[in-house]
Amino acid sequence: MNFYKNSVVWLTGASSGIGEALVPELLKKGANIIISARREAELDRIFNEYGGDRDRIFVLPFDLADHASLPRMVHEAISWKGHVDILINNGGISQRAFAHETSLEIEKQIFDVNYFGTVELTRHIVPHMMARKSGHIVVISSVLGKMSVPLRSTYSSSKHALHGYYDALRAELHQANVKVVLVCPGYIKTEVSINALRADGRKHATLDKTQAKGMEADVFSRKMLRKLASGRQEFAIGGIEILAIYAKRFIPWAVSRITQRITPVIRNL
Ligand SMILES: NC(=O)c1ccc[n+]([C@@H]2O[C@H](COP(=O)([O-])OP(=O)(O)OC[C@H]3O[C@@H](n4cnc5c(N)ncnc54)[C@H](OP(=O)(O)O)[C@@H]3O)[C@@H](O)[C@H]2O)c1
Repeated sequence: MNFYKNSVVWLTGASSGIGEALVPELLKKGANIIISARREAELDRIFNEYGGDRDRIFVLPFDLADHASLPRMVHEAISWKGHVDILINNGGISQRAFAHETSLEIEKQIFDVNYFGTVELTRHIVPHMMARKSGHIVVISSVLGKMSVPLRSTYSSSKHALHGYYDALRAELHQANVKVVLVCPGYIKTEVSINALRADGRKHATLDKTQAKGMEADVFSRKMLRKLASGRQEFAIGGIEILAIYAKRFIPWAVSRITQRITPVIRNL
């Protein structure tokens, strides 16, 4: 049975990277998709690139940090086909700044998108899925949702916070047959480091070496959709770096020693 056939999948962060790579994979599997992000021109490009069929793809641009608009976006998404089966909370923003240099304003900017935007969108779609006694809420967290490294204090905290929220939500929605799935990517070759915020609020504007050598986004997407369909509730996808999750759990002192050693190196870059 094809898990995705004729389903309605709502994808945030669809204008680049992982989100964009999920578009053709979902279409191939027979899903109808709602694509969201801020950059409408990029969403239109993707819409046209993948057939321009308004019956299969609905372009719904919005800013995850504009929390007041999210109930209306949920209403519009549901109105398209009458329901949403899978919400993939993928939109997010990273950080390249030391903790002591990251202002409260930048911290709030990252949390407004990664945590509050994701949670608020979810909160408004939950009653719809509960009423239908069906649905999947997927969250793209990170390996850094399970451990942390220098220059990512706020980003990593926002991803850790998602685990706390969605683990509770998973338990709450169990009786209603609504599934909650947390995905922890390792290094995936996208523009995440280019778009990451520096301490002064400007973009990092650099493709980090780790990102450049990371897993291709289309490979990640195929693996993710396979694991999602298999019923897993939390999983990591990436290269050897995903072992850091297990290292943090079983030998946290070693992880601590390694991250302490790399900090002076990063400071002198
Ligand atoms: N690539 C990796 O190595 C990696 C590793 C772990 C986790 N992740 C996570 O994967 C997700 C996707 O990132 P990516 O790697 O594909 O990076 P990306 O290419 O920078 O994509 C980020 C997406 O998020 C959207 N976005 C950013 N701010 C937004 C806002 N305020 N409102 C609405 N949408 C917003 C962007 O669209 P607009 O700019 O058009 O709004 C874009 O579509 C993120 O949650 C990221 O934390 C990535």
